[in-house]
Amino acid sequence: MSFDVNQVRAQFPILARKIDDNPLVYLDNAATTQKPQCVIDALVEYYTQYNANVHRGAHRLADEATKKFEAARDVVAEFINANKREEIVWTSGTTESINLVSHGLAQYLQPGEQVVVTEMEHHADLVTWQQACAKSGAKLVVVPINDEGELDLVAFDTALAQKTRLVAFPHVSNALGTVNPIALLTRIAKEAGAWVMIDGAQGIAHESVDVQALGCDFYAFSAHKLYGPMGMGVLWGREELLKDWPVWKTGGEMIATVTYQSATWNQLPYKFEAGTPNVGGAIATARAIQWLSEFNFAEVQAHEAALLRAATDRAMDFQGLRIIGSAEHKAGVLSFVMDAGHPADIGFLLDRQGIAIRTGHHCAEPLMNRLGVPGTARASFAIYNTLDEVEALFDSLKKVQMMLE
Ligand SMILES: Cc1ncc(COP(=O)(O)O)c(C=O)c1O
Repeated sequence: MSFDVNQVRAQFPILARKIDDNPLVYLDNAATTQKPQCVIDALVEYYTQYNANVHRGAHRLADEATKKFEAARDVVAEFINANKREEIVWTSGTTESINLVSHGLAQYLQPGEQVVVTEMEHHADLVTWQQACAKSGAKLVVVPINDEGELDLVAFDTALAQKTRLVAFPHVSNALGTVNPIALLTRIAKEAGAWVMIDGAQGIAHESVDVQALGCDFYAFSAHKLYGPMGMGVLWGREELLKDWPVWKTGGEMIATVTYQSATWNQLPYKFEAGTPNVGGAIATARAIQWLSEFNFAEVQAHEAALLRAATDRAMDFQGLRIIGSAEHKAGVLSFVMDAGHPADIGFLLDRQGIAIRTGHHCAEPLMNRLGVPGTARASFAIYNTLDEVEALFDSLKKVQMMLE
C-alpha cells in the first residue's frame, strides 16, 4: 500500500489537539517528534505488565523486562546495520552519547593534535569537543561553511593535513537543514587517520543509516527525534574502539569485579551503562524503530521532500522573508527571518494561530553569528505533516506580517 499521510496522522493522538480553537499544526519536529500510539502503548505496557529492573532479577518480571530490553538493542543494531549488538550503547540522548565519546577522547588527545568540527555544529557537538581539547591541550579546528550553509570541502581537506585525532560533524544541520555528504567526509577523515563521529540527531529520522557502509567510528542519535520516547538515545561505536575506550560513569552494572580499593570493567556494552537503565524507554525506542521501518522509507523521504519543496517555494515568493540555509541537499528544515519582526515575535504570533515552530539560535549560537542573524524562525517537518499544513503556515505568516508591520 502506498504512503497515506492521513493514516499516519491517525496514529498520533496529539495531532487531534486544538490550540485554543485552532487545529494544532506541529512544525517543531527538529526539536522533538510526536509519538505514535504504539510507542505510547509500549511504555504503558512495560509499566503495567512487566516493570522490573533488568539483568539481576530472579523473578518472572525481571526476566521478561531483561529479554525485551536486550531485544530492543537488537532492533537498533539491525536498524543502523551495526556489526554487533555489543556496539549499541543506551544513553539518555545524542548529548550524552557525544559526552561519552568526548570524555574518553580527552585521555587520548595530545598537545599538538587537533579535533575538527564544522561551523554548523549544535552546541552538543561543539562544547563537548571544546572541553576535551581544553583538558588535553589539543586544538579545536572549525571548518567553515559557505553562505548557502554547505560545508567547504576544500577547507575540510586542508584542515585534515594537520594531525587530527577525531572529526565530528552533523549528519543533518538542525538550524539549516543541510544534509552533509557524510560518506565522503568520513572517507576523507579516515584517509587522514582520524576517528569519525557523526551527530545523527537530525539525520536518523530522515536519512537511512548504515554504519558499516559509512565506515565511521561513532554515530549518535536521540529516540525522541525518531518518534520514540524522551530521555533515551543511542551511541553506536566500533567494537575495536569501544572495548578499550575509557569508562566514564561508574557504578553498578558497568563493573566486572570490585574490591574496596579498585574495580574492573564489564564487557561491552555494559561497561558504558552504569546504574539502572531506562528499560521502558529502550523498549519504546525499539517500538518506534519497528513502526518507522514498516513504511517504505523512500516514500517517507519523498513525502518529506515534497513538504520542504512546497515550503521553500512559498518562502521564495514571500516578500520580506529570507530563507536561512539553502544547501542543495536539505532535509526537513526551513529556517527563515522576516523584515517585519524578530523571530520570537513570529513564533509567538504563529502559536496564537495553532502553529508550533521554534525560534532562536537553535543551540547553534556561533552559527547564527557566522550567518549574521540573531536567530531564525524554524519550521521543521516530519512524516505526519501535510501540504495543507505548509499552506496554513504561510497563510498565518501573512497575517503575522500584517500584525507586525
Ligand atoms: C544536530 C543536533 N545535535 C545534537 C542534539 C542534541 O540532542 P538531545 O538534546 O536529544 O541530546 C540536537 C538536538 O536538537 C541536534 O539537533
